[in-house]
Amino acid sequence: MIYLDNAATTFPKPDGVVRAVDDCMRKWCANPGRAGHAAAMKSGEAVYSARKEAAGLIGAEPQEIIFTSNCTDALNLGLHGILGEGDHVVTTMMEHNSVLRPLDNLRKKGVETTVVQCSREGKVRSEDIRSVLRNNTRMIVCTAASNVTGTVMPLREIGKMARKNNILFFVDASQGMGIMDINVEKDGIDILAVSGHKSLMGPQGTGFLYVRSGTEIRPVKQGGTGTESQNIHHPDNMPEGFEAGTLNVPGIAGLAEGIRFIKREGIGKIFRYEEELISILHRELADQKNIKIYGPALPEEKVGIFAFNIEGLSSEETAGLLDEKYGIAVRAGYHCAPLAHRAIGTENGGCVRVSAGYFNTKEDIYRAAAAIQQIAANFHRK
Ligand code: ALA
Repeated sequence: MIYLDNAATTFPKPDGVVRAVDDCMRKWCANPGRAGHAAAMKSGEAVYSARKEAAGLIGAEPQEIIFTSNCTDALNLGLHGILGEGDHVVTTMMEHNSVLRPLDNLRKKGVETTVVQCSREGKVRSEDIRSVLRNNTRMIVCTAASNVTGTVMPLREIGKMARKNNILFFVDASQGMGIMDINVEKDGIDILAVSGHKSLMGPQGTGFLYVRSGTEIRPVKQGGTGTESQNIHHPDNMPEGFEAGTLNVPGIAGLAEGIRFIKREGIGKIFRYEEELISILHRELADQKNIKIYGPALPEEKVGIFAFNIEGLSSEETAGLLDEKYGIAVRAGYHCAPLAHRAIGTENGGCVRVSAGYFNTKEDIYRAAAAIQQIAANFHRK
């Protein structure tokens, strides 16, 4: 199989990640913060070390990192834990349902929302966000990079504008983290939701939420935290008050290794390599008259994603042929981002998404390009 569905989850994972999970589960996996024995202490140290790695990656402090079970969980905590009746939120058409659906739910609880238009390439302009701000705008929530087209958003510009207007800036870095150099200070980010199993190369079931110290946020679940155990009142201290229930220690240990891997390799190097891979698809397929490419024409304006359709074939048919006849794994359809497809003009049927990863070779990409060319030449209906 040639795996080109890395935007859904990266595969394979670095050996160090696999070893860290295995080592944890075989040798020391106890419940951190719940007991004083050696294995519990070792588990607690591993979680703290992962918190430090995550914080270091984005320019934050360890106590500002809340571990979650994925990026959706982090987004739900950030949205439901901060917003309330009477608040106005601005978001964009390129958001994933993990932002749009919590906001839809919050609308029923009196939160007002405005969705800003994006261009055909999936770009949002910070001046378009600024133009819809109101007196009660509490938050701007924006993806770092689209999961459909890979379009990179102007985070620093939006962050600066949000800060100037005293509005919280919440970034969904599910696709960008590990490929884009995101720094909460330089980018003016107050809240950041991160997926552990995508470009950070950790196991599934991991993610985290950065919350700037001093931001008002409520826990959205209550339970055991290993702290203040004599009390039935749930604590709201960062980060434990927001991590009720047993943590995914093996996953977090693996995630820490994924982050160390990214740091060793270098985010710039990873971005440039994926850009090179996607450039091959652009070069090989741009002139095919029955292939329509979506998103920015310049690979440097996106993260490792190539979105397209073959005229006369549905996106699912193309993905099915790539899988069955060529052993190439991609994702078709709407990618859980319905408004993004409206923005790029693929609301009827979605598109095919090829998403390259750091472990793909150029040979993988040339083979994918050749397969797409053959399908376009042989299978498309007139
Ligand atoms: N959000 C993931 C994707 O884009 C699952 O495929």
